[in-house]
Formats: sequence, structure tokens, C-alpha cells
Amino acid sequence: MKHILVTGGAGFIGSHVVRRFVRKYPEYRIVNLDALTYAGNLENLSDIEGASNYTFVKGDITDYPTVLECICRFGIDTILHLAAESHVDRSIRDPFVFARTNVLGTLSLLEAARKSWKEDYSGKLFYHISTDEVYGSLLPGEAAFSETTKYDPHSPYSASKASSDHFVRAFHDTYGLPVIITNCSNNYGPNQFPEKLIPLFIHHIVHRRPLPVYGRGENVRDWLYVEDHARAIDRIAHRGTSGETYNIGGRNEWTNIELVRLLIRITDRLLHRDQGESLSLIRFVPDRACHDLRYAIDSSKVERELGWFPSVTFEQGLERTVQWYLDHPGWLNRVTSGQYREYYRNTYGE
Ligand code: NAD
Ligand code: DAU
Repeated sequence: MKHILVTGGAGFIGSHVVRRFVRKYPEYRIVNLDALTYAGNLENLSDIEGASNYTFVKGDITDYPTVLECICRFGIDTILHLAAESHVDRSIRDPFVFARTNVLGTLSLLEAARKSWKEDYSGKLFYHISTDEVYGSLLPGEAAFSETTKYDPHSPYSASKASSDHFVRAFHDTYGLPVIITNCSNNYGPNQFPEKLIPLFIHHIVHRRPLPVYGRGENVRDWLYVEDHARAIDRIAHRGTSGETYNIGGRNEWTNIELVRLLIRITDRLLHRDQGESLSLIRFVPDRACHDLRYAIDSSKVERELGWFPSVTFEQGLERTVQWYLDHPGWLNRVTSGQYREYYRNTYGE
């Protein structure tokens, strides 16, 4: 029996992780601690909210007493820490909340784990889900990021995630806290908030709105289907080695403009529009400040040591993703109208 605390379980990746663990491990208790910021949407978990091994707790990770109480009350032995402010553009507009949640929130969780586990660390794990953005930016042709690549964050988002990674390692080195960090590349899939490139552009293609491509669309990202990320987290949480870092990626690099063209092809086909009709929606707009040119992950360590590989090809994953958004216009409408925020009150009566 494991008692697992997932932070940020109402968000995009967190909801896939929670669903996977609740369904696959009926003998575990899964506690989802989430503050329900703009990015948290409990509707993402409506299909498992009645499961007997699942509990939702509304709470902020920066609130140390709440976190401590949660770990003690549920006898938590494993923490899968995903709660974060996650959007680079928002971090450029409002960096403070990124330091608060990503740095102080992670510190509060680490300290609560250390205090509640009272240095009896057998069977315990603090698993921090982090990003490849901590490594900075690659030039075309440069070797992909490995676990030993020097940290070189540029945006307030990546600086806050780099800082939280350092705190996690410091708790391992200083107090012996059992920790694992994974640094993952760009995720895509169902339930992603439509501020990120792929869901935003699907939404705009459907409504024939302009597609704002930053700069010339030459930036490169390494895309991974979200359920492959959840599979990796499952594998690493069970078989990873404490104190280690694992990079997770899709070996799937695309320039933004190539990706947008592929997305248009798939979406136009699924909408029975003329092929390429939506290409005219592309607009090149001023670039993101200090826009990292290229991310690429070398995931050979997790492949070699733990036998994890991505299972979904990009064409399959993108088609599934577009189909999911087309099949769930209600989800998108409630998110864009703000109505999704009422879900918690209507369901939990608070
Ligand atoms: P998201 O923005 O979709 O979800 C974040 C969740 O955290 C939301 O449910 C939100 O309510 C919750 N949250 C935010 N602040 C909180 C606080 N103070 N207390 C409690 N809960 C809070 O994020 P995501 O895209 O699912 O990313 C999840 C994690 O994975 C993040 O740590 C992110 O840095 C990391 N990551 C994301 C990607 C990606 O491509 N999306 C890639 C690599 C790593
Ligand atoms: O690499 C992992 C990271 O991937 C995660 O840590 C972040 O949480 C996640 O948000 C993501 O960061 P990006 O900045 O790469 O994702 P985003 O979807 O915002 O942008 C992807 C690329 O598309 C990037 O080069 C910027 C560009 N873009 C984005 C938007 C929203 C555009 O050209 N136009 C847009 O409107």
C-alpha cells in the first residue's frame, strides 16, 4: 500500500498522472493537492472523482501548515510534485508568482516532507517533475541536453524551475531526503490549457482565428505525448534510483512553423475542410523576449536503465489530440468562458 500525494493534479500533466495511478493501482491512496489556480480544472478528473482510492484537497503548496497537515493526515510516503506556474509568457509578464509557487512552494513541500518523515526515509520518495528549459537553449546541430548539461535558464519560468531543482538536490545532499528529479520536454495532449501553442492553435483553427507564430517560427521544441510522460513518471517513481536525475523526451524535434503546418493539415482534414485552407490564418508576430531557440532531450539514460520509450508517434498523438478537442467543445467553452471555475463549488459544495 502506498500513500501518494500528487501536487498540481488538476492541471494538464497532473490530471493524466492522477488518472493513471488511481486506475492502475487500486491498492494505493492518491491524494491530489491543488490550489485550483487558473490552470487547475477538476473537470479534467470528473471520470475518477468518485473512486474510493482518490481524495482531492484544495490547498496551496506555499501554505506550509496545510502541506504538513496533508502529509501527516494521509500518511504520505511518496510525493509526486507537479504543482507549478508553467507558462513562459506569463512568467515574462508576472515573474513574482513564479518564484512564489515554483521556488517557495517547492521549499515548503520539501520541508514538510523532511519534518513529517522525521528522517525515517525508508520507503519514502520526493519526486520533482521539472523541465528541460533549465538547460537553456541549443544551437542547431548541438548535442541534445543530457543529465549532466550545465543549467542555464533564461526565462523567469525556467529560472524558477532551476531554482526549485537546486533546492530538491540540496535537501538530498544536506538531509538525505530521498529525491528524484526528471526534466521533461514539451508535452501535448488532451486537457492542456489553451494558452500553450498546440491547444491554442487548434482552438483558433476551429474558429478561423489568426495563428500568432512568434518570430519566424524557427524555434525548435521536442514534443512528447502527455500519456507517455505519465508512463515515464510511473516507471521512474517505482524503479528510479534516489538522488538521480532522468531526462525524458520524445526524440521528436519540430520547428514551430513545421508543427503548425502539420497541425493545420490534421485539423483541416478532421474538420472536412479543403486541405491547407487554414494556412492563410498564419501570422508572424513579434518574438517572445529571449526566446530559447532549440530544446532537445537525450533520454538514453531512462531508456537504457529503466526501459522507458515513448509509445505514441507524433502523427498519432497530434491526431488524437485534435480529435479530443473537437470532441470536447464544452470543455474548451467552459475554460475560455471561465465557467470551469464553478466546477469545484458545484461538485464539492464549497
Ligand atoms: P499546468 O499549468 O497545466 O498545471 C499546474 C497545476 O498546478 C494546476 O492544477 C494549478 O492549479 C496547480 N497549482 C499552481 N500553483 C499552485 C499552488 N501554489 N499550490 C497548489 N497547486 C498549484 O502545468 P502542467 O503543464 O501540467 O505542468 C505540470 C508540471 O510539469 C510543472 O511543474 C511543469 O513545470 C512541469 N513540466 C511541464 C511541461 C509541459 O510541457 N507542460 C514539460 C515539462 C515539465
Ligand atoms: O520544454 C518544456 C516546457 O514546454 C515546459 O516546461 C513548459 O511548462 C511548457 O509551457 C512548454 O514551454 P514552451 O514555452 O516551449 O511552450 P509553449 O506552448 O508556450 O510554446 C511552444 C513554442 O511555440 C515556443 O517556441 C513559443 C511558440 N509559440 C507559443 C505560443 C503560445 C508561438 O509561436 N505562438 C504562441 O502563441
